[in-house]
Amino acid sequence: MSVIDDIKARLDIVDIVSAYTPLKKAGRNYKALCPFHGEKTPSFVVFPDRQSWRCFGACNEGGDIFGFVMKAEGWDFPETLRVLAERAGVELRPQTPEENIRHNTEERLLALLDGAAQLFTQHLLESPDAEAVRAYVTRRGLNETTIRQFNIGYAPDSWHFALNHFRLEGYREEELLEAGLAIRNETGRVYDRFRHRLMIPIRDGRGRTLGFGARALADDQQPKYLNSPQGPLFNKSNLLYGLDLARRAIRESETVVIVEGYMDVIQAHQAGYTNVVAQMGTALTPTQVQQVAKYANRLILALDSDAAGVNATMRGLKVTRDSLVEAEPEGLDARGMMSQAGKLQLDIRVLQLPSGKDPDEFIRANPEQWPEVVNQARPLVDYVIEIGTRHLPPNADIYARERVARDLLPLLTATESDLQRNDNIQRLAVRLHIPERDLLNWVHAAGGKKSAPLSAHRPQPKGAGKGSNAIGMPRRNGHLNQPGAALERYCLSMLLQAPDRLFQANRKLRELAAQEERASAALLPLNQEDFSREDYRALFRLINEALNQDEYEPNEFIEECVPQELKGTVEEIQPHPLEIFRQKASNLHLAELQSVMKDLSRFNGEAELQSVELFRCVFELRQQRLKREMSDFYFFEREAQLDSEDTLVVDYSIIKAHSLAIHLLERAHHELVHQRQEN
Ligand code: CTP
Ligand code: MN
Repeated sequence: MSVIDDIKARLDIVDIVSAYTPLKKAGRNYKALCPFHGEKTPSFVVFPDRQSWRCFGACNEGGDIFGFVMKAEGWDFPETLRVLAERAGVELRPQTPEENIRHNTEERLLALLDGAAQLFTQHLLESPDAEAVRAYVTRRGLNETTIRQFNIGYAPDSWHFALNHFRLEGYREEELLEAGLAIRNETGRVYDRFRHRLMIPIRDGRGRTLGFGARALADDQQPKYLNSPQGPLFNKSNLLYGLDLARRAIRESETVVIVEGYMDVIQAHQAGYTNVVAQMGTALTPTQVQQVAKYANRLILALDSDAAGVNATMRGLKVTRDSLVEAEPEGLDARGMMSQAGKLQLDIRVLQLPSGKDPDEFIRANPEQWPEVVNQARPLVDYVIEIGTRHLPPNADIYARERVARDLLPLLTATESDLQRNDNIQRLAVRLHIPERDLLNWVHAAGGKKSAPLSAHRPQPKGAGKGSNAIGMPRRNGHLNQPGAALERYCLSMLLQAPDRLFQANRKLRELAAQEERASAALLPLNQEDFSREDYRALFRLINEALNQDEYEPNEFIEECVPQELKGTVEEIQPHPLEIFRQKASNLHLAELQSVMKDLSRFNGEAELQSVELFRCVFELRQQRLKREMSDFYFFEREAQLDSEDTLVVDYSIIKAHSLAIHLLERAHHELVHQRQEN
C-alpha cells in the first residue's frame, strides 16, 4: 500500500471537509454549502463510500481528500501530502534535493527569528533608550530571569533597527520580509514591522521561535498586540504560547491550564505555576488541543470571565469536543481510550476567576491562591449546563426547554464514558425538568450513535476491512481495490510507458464526439477528472506537461520531474503482467479473458496492439467516469426534490450528453474487443 493509500485509509473525508463547511446528512451522503464559491442552497456533496466530493454548482468539480485540501488551502500536492500524512500519522520518505533547499531556507529563517529574539532581549536589558520599557516591565512585576526565559525584548522606535542589524549579518531583504520582521510598502520602501513595542517571541513546542507578539507601549498605539503575519512558518492557531516551557510540568501533573494571553502565561510561570499555556486570544483549535492531550489528561480552561470570554469559552468547548472526536494525536489513542470503560481521556474543567480579573492580575495579587482556584475549576458539564440554560426563564415552556436540551445533548454525550454520559444526561434532566428517558431517546434519534464508540458510526465504505491499525482506529482497506482504481492505474501505466499515445487516444474520443454532436460535451479529451484520486490526477497532469514541452523526451521529462511524493504512486502503477491479468480478469467474460491471455503472451509486443489496448481502456475509463457522475447527478437531483428548500439546479443537457456518450463508448469498446478476438 502506498503512503497515499495509507493516508486515505486513516483519514475520513467527512471529518476533513466538515472542518471547512458544516455537513448535513443526506441519505448515505452529506451535503453542504460549497466552501469554494458563495451559494445559498447547497450544491456540494461528500460521498463517504467513495471518499470523494463534488460541487454541482458553479465549480462543477470534484475529487478526493487530497484534491479537496489542495483547493481549500491553495497548497500544491506535495505540501498537501505532508500535512495529511502528519495528520494521519503516516511517515513520508526522505527528502529530495528540492526539499533540502526548502529545508535550508527554512533553517535560515528560523535562525533569523531566533537572532531577532536575542537582539530585542539584549536591547531591552542593556540599551539606554529602553529605560522606560524596563520600568514598564518592572511595573508589571516581571523579573530578569523571566525576561531571559521568555526572551522578552524591546524593538526600539526605529524604521530600520532590525533591518540594518540583520543586513549586516548577511540576511537578504526578502528573508526579513518573509520572516515577518520587515514590511514593504506600495512605493517599495522596506522598513521594520515592529517599532516601539515589547517583543514576545512565540515559540513552538520545540522551542523554535516562529514569530512575535508585540505589545504596544504607548497609549495611542494600535493594535494592542501586533502579531507576526500568518505564514507557512507562523500559524497562531497551531501554536500554544508557552508550551516549550510548560511541557514538563504538564506531563508531570498530567494537567494543563489554558489561559488567554501571553501575560497570563508569563506571570503564572514566574510564580512557579509552569503547566500554563495560552491560546493567544482566539478560540481553541483542534491542533492546539491535540498538542497538549499528548501529555495531560486534565485540561483546565481559564478564560476571561467577561461576556466575550464566555462566548470564547463556548466556542472553545465546541472545538475541544470536536478535536477529541477528530483527533488522532500521536501517542494518544482518543478513540481507543474512550471505549475503554472506566478510563477517561480528558477531564475538562472550566475555571472562572473573580470577575474583571485575568490570570495575570489574579496571580500578581494572590499568587498563593492560584492552586486553590485551579482546584475549584468545575467540570465542563456543569459549566455547559449553566451557560446553556441561563437564558431560560424559570417558567420556560417545554418547547423552549426541549430546544435547549437538543442543543446541549451532543456536547454532553460526545466524549465521555458511559457512566459520565448517563450522569450528564441525568443532570440535564434535573435542570430542565425533562424525563431522562426522553433525553436518551433524542440522543438516539439524532443519529446519536454519537454516544457509541466513535469507530462505530464512522461512515465506512462498502467492503471496508474490519481490521484496525496500531492506534486502534478503524481502517479502510478499500482504496486500492476500490472499483475503478485498477483501471485508472492501468491506464496511467500505459501512458507512462508511451506518453505520446495520449494524442491517439484523444483523437479516438474526438472521432466519437464527431458522430454525435449532443454527446460531445462528455467526450472531451482525457483530463484529470477521469481519475478519481488526486495522486493519479497529479501524475496525469505531469504526463500532459511532458507532452506540452519540447526540451526533453516526454519519458525523460517525467522521470526527471516526478516529485518525490509521487514516486510511490509511480512504482505502484508499474504494471506487473500478473497484476494486469488479475485486474482485468476480475470483470471480464471468458471470451475477453482469452484475448487478454493472448495479449499478455506478447505483452511487450506490437505497438499497435498496445495502442488498441489503451483505447479500450480509455473508453472504459471515460465510461466509468460518466457513470459515476450520472449517479452523483441523480443523487443530487433526488435530494433536491426531497428537500423543498433547495431549488433544482441539475442541467439536463449534461445528463443527456453523458448518457449518449456512455452509449457511444460502449459500442466503440465492444467493437475494439471484438476486432481483437478476430485477430
Ligand atoms: N491578542 C492578540 N492580538 C490583539 C489582542 C489580543 O493576539 N490585538 C491575544 C494575545 O495573545 C493576548 C491575548 O489575546 O495576550 C489576550 O488579550 P488581552 O486580554 O487583551 O491581553 P493581555 O494578555 O491581558 O495583555 P495585557 O495584560 O498586557 O493587557
Ligand atoms: Mn492582561
